[in-house]
Amino acid sequence: MLATYRALTGDALEQLRSLPDASVHCCVTSPPYGTLIRYGDGADGVAPERYADWILPILREIARVLVEGGVLALNLNGQGSATYPEAVIVRVGPETQLTLHERVCWVKANAVPVGHRGSRLIPEWEPIWVFRKGPRLAYFGRDAIRRPYAPATVRRAARGNLHRGRRGNHGDQAHPYVRQDKVEFVNPAGRDAANVIWAAPEQSSHWKHPARFPEAIPQFFIQAYCPPGGVVLDPFAGSGTTLAVATRLGRHAIGIELYEQYVRTIHERCRQSHWVFDV
Ligand SMILES: C[S@@+](CC[C@H](N)C(=O)[O-])C[C@H]1O[C@@H](n2cnc3c(N)ncnc32)[C@H](O)[C@@H]1O
Repeated sequence: MLATYRALTGDALEQLRSLPDASVHCCVTSPPYGTLIRYGDGADGVAPERYADWILPILREIARVLVEGGVLALNLNGQGSATYPEAVIVRVGPETQLTLHERVCWVKANAVPVGHRGSRLIPEWEPIWVFRKGPRLAYFGRDAIRRPYAPATVRRAARGNLHRGRRGNHGDQAHPYVRQDKVEFVNPAGRDAANVIWAAPEQSSHWKHPARFPEAIPQFFIQAYCPPGGVVLDPFAGSGTTLAVATRLGRHAIGIELYEQYVRTIHERCRQSHWVFDV
């Protein structure tokens, strides 16, 4: 299936207003980290004290463009002791049409501990908040995000003694511990996904951008929450990781990015592997 992409240049709030209601299945995005990183030459970043008031109108627009049952996966991380991400999260429910669906932990496998942090711990994980529009999901790609069983589980399954010593959580064919009839299942497609993603930070300098997603991050959420042929949105598209992954997976993609230099990267990146595009 041919997947298309659109890359819009400009401010996320203004550009989102140009998109029709209920036209996006899944939004995966990582907004600017307060004032931590400079992306371009303009007045960059958003101060922690005004962050919630800045992003909530954007989240309301995202909610408007999502289909009923659509999903927003929001990678929103703090900066030092600032609690602006938490201030945002508690306002999402009351101020948008979105409901918290999952809390996902992105563990930055192989993160390089740089610099002297005194008595502070090295930050090696980031939260990804998953919000749903409406009472239930429109789509859940459960099989696409399955993970391998632990080798010990597979060995125990081969010996036929998975049930021994285990309790709880029955009735799921994918679950290896089925006690009722002493039959053990190990789903050949893997175990159900957990709410932790291990993904090394992007090291390559090929796509010049200071804060790129590893591809595993958008891939997980797109496969989980956007049906094949559906539409994925990233209103802070940066180098276009979400768009490149979405089109590769047979989903249409829309990206918004403030800086022209990164929009050029998005085109370069998406055209490299896909040949249908739209501007
Ligand atoms: C954390 S980065 C996203 C990186 C992206 N996930 C990737 O893999 O390349 C945030 C991006 O938002 C852009 N940005 C900042 N303010 C914006 C705004 N008001 N509207 C649209 N984009 C904005 C920045 O230029 C930056 O590229």
